[in-house]
Amino acid sequence: MSDLGFDGRVAVVTGAGGGLGREYALLLASRGARVVVNDTGGSTAGEGADEGPADGVAREIRDLGGEATADTHSVATPEGGKAVVRTALDAYGTVDIVVNNAGILRDAPFHEMTADLLDPVLDVHLKGAFYVTTPAWNVMREQGYGRVINTISAAGVLGTANKSNYGSAKTGLIGLTRVLAAEGAAHGIKTNAVAPIALTRMLTQSLTRTGVQGKVPEPEPDRAEQAMTVERMRSFVDRLDPALVAPVVAYLAHEDCPVSGEMYTVGAGHVARFFVGRTDGYFNPALSMEDVRDHFDEIRDETGYTVPKDPGEETGRLFRTVQG
Ligand SMILES: NC(=O)c1ccc[n+]([C@@H]2O[C@H](COP(=O)([O-])OP(=O)(O)OC[C@H]3O[C@@H](n4cnc5c(N)ncnc54)[C@H](O)[C@@H]3O)[C@@H](O)[C@H]2O)c1
Repeated sequence: MSDLGFDGRVAVVTGAGGGLGREYALLLASRGARVVVNDTGGSTAGEGADEGPADGVAREIRDLGGEATADTHSVATPEGGKAVVRTALDAYGTVDIVVNNAGILRDAPFHEMTADLLDPVLDVHLKGAFYVTTPAWNVMREQGYGRVINTISAAGVLGTANKSNYGSAKTGLIGLTRVLAAEGAAHGIKTNAVAPIALTRMLTQSLTRTGVQGKVPEPEPDRAEQAMTVERMRSFVDRLDPALVAPVVAYLAHEDCPVSGEMYTVGAGHVARFFVGRTDGYFNPALSMEDVRDHFDEIRDETGYTVPKDPGEETGRLFRTVQG
């Protein structure tokens, strides 16, 4: 089997001035894609701006013999999203691949989740994906080809404390991924999502809070078990090289990508699929509240679960159950 290349393809990678996005941009460019390296260069919370990160990665790619253009517009507004895609059109004439990767964190427990913590997170992750993908979508529809990769997170898919804003934005992107897969099918456009696990400044910030990275209180000498757990956790974290997420994103961005509307969890060189399953369930045409109580185990039983590919299949299943 031959190596996979991106000759002639144009990719926009948002938030590519560091962390995961930088690795995506480097890999795509090393395989021949012309890449727009977008990044505002702000803090993990999304404050401030700096041209340095986007410029630096674009230069790094060019120094390695690739083609790249830096872009520092924010994905968080419709104008910013249009400008990011405009950079690709002006520099390279088209856009074939969008990797929606830009992201920020503003964690707080739900009872302290104020609008100034919620709105910017929704704006960058969820609306940002709309704002960048929409102008690119029109180009992709016209050319009958495109690849979109959205960045989701286990923190949303599976849920974790203190991230109601982030988790909601990330799971909103699952819906966007599914709907774009449905709408893009007739136009040669495939959309998938990746939930990365990688040691970047973002993960470092989350881990610092949980005591795995940074100012970790040293375990007491007699607590050998605790010391081993922290040590093993540290060595695990050290293996979470963001470069090991990039091959999955690049494959999903390639014309050979065989799927659309799917989600992959990726870290340390491991790749697996997340999916939405449906239990076989319980049916009673005269369903009462007590029936629900009495059959709750059956309703939840994962034996024989299925993975509906679309709402039509789900409704079809219900139709067959109801009709007998
Ligand atoms: N690192 C992980 O383990 C992990 C886990 C799950 C999801 N993610 C997601 O992966 C993506 C990349 O995160 P990372 O871990 O590399 O962190 P990171 O902070 O290194 O990268 C995010 C980048 O996005 C840029 N950015 C922020 N707001 C922007 C805006 N409005 N416009 C353009 N660029 C903007 C930042 O400047 C930064 O360079 C994020 O969407 C994040 O939520 C990461």
